[in-house]
Amino acid sequence: MINKKIKKIVLKKNKSKLVCLTAYSKSIAKILDKHVDIVLVGDSMANVLYGHSNTHKISLDNILEHSSSVKMGIKKSLLVVDMPKGSYDNIKLAKKNVSKVIRKTGCDAIKIESNKKNFKIIQSLVKKKIPVMGHIGYTPQFKKKFKIEGQTKHEAKALLKEAMLIEKAGAFSIVLECLSPHSAKLITNTLKIPTIGIGSSIDCDGQILVTDDILGLSGFYPKFVKKYTNLNRIIEKAVKKYTREVKLKKFPKKTNFLNGSKY
Ligand code: KIV
Repeated sequence: MINKKIKKIVLKKNKSKLVCLTAYSKSIAKILDKHVDIVLVGDSMANVLYGHSNTHKISLDNILEHSSSVKMGIKKSLLVVDMPKGSYDNIKLAKKNVSKVIRKTGCDAIKIESNKKNFKIIQSLVKKKIPVMGHIGYTPQFKKKFKIEGQTKHEAKALLKEAMLIEKAGAFSIVLECLSPHSAKLITNTLKIPTIGIGSSIDCDGQILVTDDILGLSGFYPKFVKKYTNLNRIIEKAVKKYTREVKLKKFPKKTNFLNGSKY
């Protein structure tokens, strides 16, 4: 096994559920770090932060900037960085870009989406002692249409085969995005590495969601998201109060000034 932090994650399979969330900045990462096992700098930042309609245009530089910020907030959890679309199309490119991500961000692992063919890329990264998280099912970098996968026997069998090839290639864990519960359970029960579900099944070894979604900030709430609070409403309330106080000259007060000089 590659390093202590990774080993700890893998050993949780069948013992305790893995708790995973996304972060794009130090301030959020610092809060998550106290509670979760894995913090993922997801390419979902394309939709959530940059307002893109898909994840395709997020650049390696975007990922590097946000991951460096997140790293500053991490003390104990495992930091995984999503490789953006086009950054791992072949072994040479993947090695070059993944090395850059690890060198520049100090992350513990990277995640790459499966296109059902890139198992050799995972294998070559793992050979270089780079911990890789796989990702199957709804893989936004490669799929145009959203669809729940693994609903037929044939599809479930194909997904299981794909997951097994990713495990064989050396991945230390795998995200199962929007799989049928039956399919996710089958894969979870078959693989030795932990499965991390999103919109898939309670039976996965862990769960991941986009933090901005659970906080009620993103405005994106599909059925598999549970909104644990409504930050949009809380922020709006605070902004309204600030606006009112500035207009009514109630803010700033004397106590908000930094020094007591006359000038
Ligand atoms: O980009 C992302 O945030 C992800 C998770 C939703 C798994 O890939």
